[in-house]
Amino acid sequence: MTVLCNISEIPAQSARGFTLDGRALVAVHHNGRFFVYENRCPHRGVELEWQPDQFFDFEGNYIQCATHGALFKIDTGECIAGPCNGQALNQVAFSQIDCQIVLL
Ligand code: FES
Repeated sequence: MTVLCNISEIPAQSARGFTLDGRALVAVHHNGRFFVYENRCPHRGVELEWQPDQFFDFEGNYIQCATHGALFKIDTGECIAGPCNGQALNQVAFSQIDCQIVLL
């Protein structure tokens, strides 16, 4: 098990990028829940963010790929619009232990 971060490092309604052992990840805190995905768009395999830690669309309702604008549901990673419609971000298994997000 590897500690990714303390939950206090990801304020509500925000996301944060991490690189762990060369693997790009994004942790999201949305509507009181946490999610962790590989930071890799299924369309071209690139990282998703617009700028460091900027992963959401303008309204903050979806994760959006900065390259071609694909939209991903925050709670499942499913792509609902864009060139990889129907594919999904890879979820990363984790547990919230005390105040930490721990990768399994
Ligand atoms: S690389 Fe993400 S939508 Fe094309």
